[in-house]
Amino acid sequence: MKKKIGLGTWSWGNKLFWNYEVSSDEELYETFSEALNQGFSFIDTADSYGTGSLSGRSEKLIGQFLQRVIKDKQNNIKIATKLAPYPWRIGRQAFSTPYKKSLNRLNNQLDLVQLHWSTEKYNPWQDFQLLNNLCDLIDEGFQFKIGLSNIGPKRLLRIIHFLKEKNKRVSSVQVQFSLLSPNNEKQKNVKKICDQNKIDFLAYSPLAFGILCQDPSKPGKRKSSLLRNFIFQTYNNPTLELRKVMKEISQARSASLAQVALNWCFYQGAIPIVGLRKKNQVLDICKVFKWDLTQREFERLENASNNCPKKMPGNPFSSL
Ligand SMILES: NC(=O)c1ccc[n+]([C@@H]2O[C@H](COP(=O)([O-])OP(=O)(O)OC[C@H]3O[C@@H](n4cnc5c(N)ncnc54)[C@H](OP(=O)(O)O)[C@@H]3O)[C@@H](O)[C@H]2O)c1
Repeated sequence: MKKKIGLGTWSWGNKLFWNYEVSSDEELYETFSEALNQGFSFIDTADSYGTGSLSGRSEKLIGQFLQRVIKDKQNNIKIATKLAPYPWRIGRQAFSTPYKKSLNRLNNQLDLVQLHWSTEKYNPWQDFQLLNNLCDLIDEGFQFKIGLSNIGPKRLLRIIHFLKEKNKRVSSVQVQFSLLSPNNEKQKNVKKICDQNKIDFLAYSPLAFGILCQDPSKPGKRKSSLLRNFIFQTYNNPTLELRKVMKEISQARSASLAQVALNWCFYQGAIPIVGLRKKNQVLDICKVFKWDLTQREFERLENASNNCPKKMPGNPFSSL
C-alpha cells in the first residue's frame, strides 16, 4: 500500500494546549506549502479548532493559504474538516449552517466532512440525524464524502449499514492510534472493519502530541503551554523504555523518532495525520517514504508499547 500522510492542523489557532501565536502564521504557511510540495494527500481540520476569539482559525488559515498556492497544487490536495456534534446541534438540519460556514472559511474547497465524535453517550439518536443531514446536503448538490471520528467497531458497523440504505457510504474513519494510544486492540478491530468495507483508516495524534519525538537521553525541554508541558513531564518517566527502543531503531536506520512512530502506523496500513507547524518537521517526516520497518522492528515496538505503564487518555466520547 502506498504511504500517505495527512497534515493535522489542530494547533493552528489553539492557544490553550498548543500556545498558538498569530505571529507564527507565516511559518504555518511555509509548513503548508512544503507539505504540498512533498505530496501530502490531505489536510485535516475541524470547525471546533481555534480557542476563544480564535474560533474557526484553523479552517480560516487553510482557506487563506489555499488562495496563495498555485491551482495545480490546490487540485491535488483533499481538504477534510470535522463538524462537532455539540449537544445543542440537534435535529436533521443542525449541521447545515456549520457546514456552510466551514465551506466558506475553507475557500469553498471541502472534500470530506467527518462527524467529530459519536453522540452515543449523551444522545444516541443524534448521530443518525446529523448523518441524515449530511446525506441531504449531498442530495442538494454539495459535493463531499462522509467520514467518522472517535467511533468504535459496534457503532461503525451500524453506521455503515445506515448509510448503505441511503446509497451513501463511510469514506474514512479517524481514531487515536499511536504507540501510546489507549486500547489499541479496539482500534485494530475498527481497522479490520475499515479494510472489509474499503474505508480509509486515519491515525490521529500518531506522535502522541510530540511525546514520542522526545530523545530519551535528553531532558525534555519544551517551550509550550503549561498544560502541554505538564503532560510531557507526566509522561517522561513512564515512556522512557518505549522511547529507548524507538531510539535504537532510529539510530540503526539513521532516522528520527518521529519517522519510527509513523512507520509503526504504516506497517499496519494506517494513514497518519501528523500535527505540523514547522517546515523542517515536514522535511523530516517525509523521509519516512524511503524506508520501512522490518517485522522484527515492528514486534520490538509492539512489545515496548504493550509494556508501557501509562497510555494517553482516550476521547471520552468515543463510542463502543
Ligand atoms: N478526531 C479527533 O478527535 C482528533 C484529536 C486529536 C487530533 N486530531 C488530528 O490529528 C492531528 C495530529 O494530532 P496532534 O496534533 O494531536 O499531535 P501529533 O501529530 O501526535 O504531534 C504533533 C506534534 O509533534 C511534534 N512533531 C511533529 N513532527 C515532528 C518531528 N519531525 N520531530 C519532532 N517533533 C515533531 C510537533 O510539536 P511542536 O509543534 O511543539 O514542535 C507537533 O506539534 C491534529 O492536528 C488533528 O488534525 C484529531
